Amino acid sequence: MLYQRVLITGANGLVGQELVALLSLHRDFDVLATGRDDASKVPGGSFGYTPLDLTNHKDVKDLLVNFTPDVVINCAAMTHVDTCENERKGCWSVNVEAVENLARCCLMVGAKLVHVSTDFIFDGLEGPYREESRPDPVNFYGRSKLAAENAIRKAGLNNWAIARTVLVYGAGNDLSRSNFVLWVIDQLSQGNKIRVVDDQWRTPTYAPDLAQGLHKLVRYDKRGVYHLSGREFMSIYDLAQKVARMFDLNASLIERIDSQSLNQTAVRPPKTGFIILKAESEFGYKPRTLEAALTHLGSRLGLPVTTS
Ligand SMILES: NC(=O)c1ccc[n+]([C@@H]2O[C@H](COP(=O)([O-])OP(=O)(O)OC[C@H]3O[C@@H](n4cnc5c(N)ncnc54)[C@H](OP(=O)(O)O)[C@@H]3O)[C@@H](O)[C@H]2O)c1
Repeated sequence: MLYQRVLITGANGLVGQELVALLSLHRDFDVLATGRDDASKVPGGSFGYTPLDLTNHKDVKDLLVNFTPDVVINCAAMTHVDTCENERKGCWSVNVEAVENLARCCLMVGAKLVHVSTDFIFDGLEGPYREESRPDPVNFYGRSKLAAENAIRKAGLNNWAIARTVLVYGAGNDLSRSNFVLWVIDQLSQGNKIRVVDDQWRTPTYAPDLAQGLHKLVRYDKRGVYHLSGREFMSIYDLAQKVARMFDLNASLIERIDSQSLNQTAVRPPKTGFIILKAESEFGYKPRTLEAALTHLGSRLGLPVTTS
């Protein structure tokens, strides 16, 4: 059994929490979780936690020198797409400069860098996408995430991986940001009307499945770019409808709209989504079906679900 020290950044986010919970179950991983908060939001004590702001380059360097990880998994980012559009300097600092520094530090201590990236590096005109599809982001968040990918490729690391994902949903403890599925459940449960676009298509990803994919990617020491998302390609409106049906909520509260009438600050790519064949065939990535994922989520939230 190869014992590995794994440092996780952004460990209190949606993806970070799932990953900490999963990897710390494996005794051959010594997990050090890091985030901006003073304490971990993941219950259980089989991992370490230390506060770390990725934009503090010296703190990052000191921690990597002291912990000497074999693998660093970067789950930290400014993820709110409209905030990235409005706060470009802050976005670039976390999503690009901090990653450049992290890559330099990984090079210095000989660690593998696994970086979580996004479908928003694509323009959404020809989804679902393969790993080798040509990126062309349509908003600042996407540009920042693509710049980070390029920085990692050019950092001189001999061991790096980029795991791109799509519309991640799930449950977490005291998350600083909600996610689409939780928002739909929350709003419809309160009897609120919601407006949901039918012209944006995705392959929605259940956070625990993504964590499983990242775990396998690390365990099998995979290098290069991998697409890790759900398998089902659907419109966001159809996703909301499915959530409403499965959680026995009032689907008539969901108004079907197009992206133009939503008038969001940042443009969204219309059809992204991923082809996940590479991860499936190279390391057995196996995301649940949407129905199985929502059933699992329902049991976590203590909500009854109706399957078809
Ligand atoms: N969620 C999605 O739909 C989606 C889709 C595609 C790709 N991704 C990618 O998946 C990764 C994980 O995202 P997520 O869904 O877990 O988002 P999230 O819940 O917003 O988590 C991001 C985490 O990064 C932390 N963070 C932000 N700035 C930081 C800094 N300067 N230093 C340290 N930590 C910092 C945040 O901390 P605070 O809570 O303190 O802000 C938060 O805990 C990101 O790279 C994102 O781009 C997400």
